[in-house]
Amino acid sequence: MTLHGPGAVDPVFSPASPQAAALADVFARTLLVCAVIFILVAGLIIWCMLRYRRRPGGGEPKQTAGNEKLEVTWTAASILVLVWLFVLTVRAMNASDPPSDRPPDLAVIGHQWWWEVRYPNGAVTANEIHIPTGSNLLVRAGSADVIHDFWVPQLGRKIDTIPGRSNHTWLRADEPGEYLGACAEYCGAEHAWMRIRVVAEPPEEFAAWVGHQAEPAAGPATPAAIRGEAIFREQTCLNCHGIRGVTAETRVAPDLTHFADRETIGAGVLTNNVDNLTRWLKDPQRIKRGVHMPSFRLTTAEIDDLLASLETLQ
Ligand code: CUA
Repeated sequence: MTLHGPGAVDPVFSPASPQAAALADVFARTLLVCAVIFILVAGLIIWCMLRYRRRPGGGEPKQTAGNEKLEVTWTAASILVLVWLFVLTVRAMNASDPPSDRPPDLAVIGHQWWWEVRYPNGAVTANEIHIPTGSNLLVRAGSADVIHDFWVPQLGRKIDTIPGRSNHTWLRADEPGEYLGACAEYCGAEHAWMRIRVVAEPPEEFAAWVGHQAEPAAGPATPAAIRGEAIFREQTCLNCHGIRGVTAETRVAPDLTHFADRETIGAGVLTNNVDNLTRWLKDPQRIKRGVHMPSFRLTTAEIDDLLASLETLQ
């Protein structure tokens, strides 16, 4: 496993939405003005040190106390710079913060250590958010346990998810593609593995995806998948994981109704394929230490059946 595995986070400096561009712009301008001030001040200090250093036989220099013109100039200049930064900041806040007086387009709920994602049409997924390109989506951000922070650097601002409270942010991408994000507030042992994958796609593709995600799960078709579903019930997987159309709804762990469609497991810790899923089912604690999923000590045959059943969840 590498640090730059399936969950590496993209830089802040390649914004892909007007909201993120506004923030990157404030940063760049602030950095520029601070760099100019730094060079000016450091340059003057170095110049004074060289020009007015003590020389042999130089004696006491001329003593000065106060220079009204100079003092007024640097006070006024500092105020102007601060006012300019204030205006820039307020403009970026207006660009990146949404109103909260309309119904949200999706809800994101932080959990230790994964993201629950719910759409108004009933679609529920985890860690992977699909959005249509070119429109502002209003995200309602909440938390099921502790404070997390939802952050997809290329698409917008950070937003804290706080238990018992709803925060709102815009999510938007102008170009189709995948945008990676992460939890940005320390929230426990596996804080680093709370990755977010935003898939932006043309509106028609998004509509098809969200429609499909709202449908109940496909039933098991093969004998192995039928056995797998029975194991799912017997091993109490269904106490935490919901599969719509098969089990009762639960919000403790990721909904698995369309699990096979997802690219990663464990909130980005592994790519979703048969080998990795086998490793995960064998001992999730070895992959993601502290994860709330216990190791069930499943036999190889049981794991194979579970895999067959999970694979049908397209
Ligand atoms: Cu959730 Cu850090």
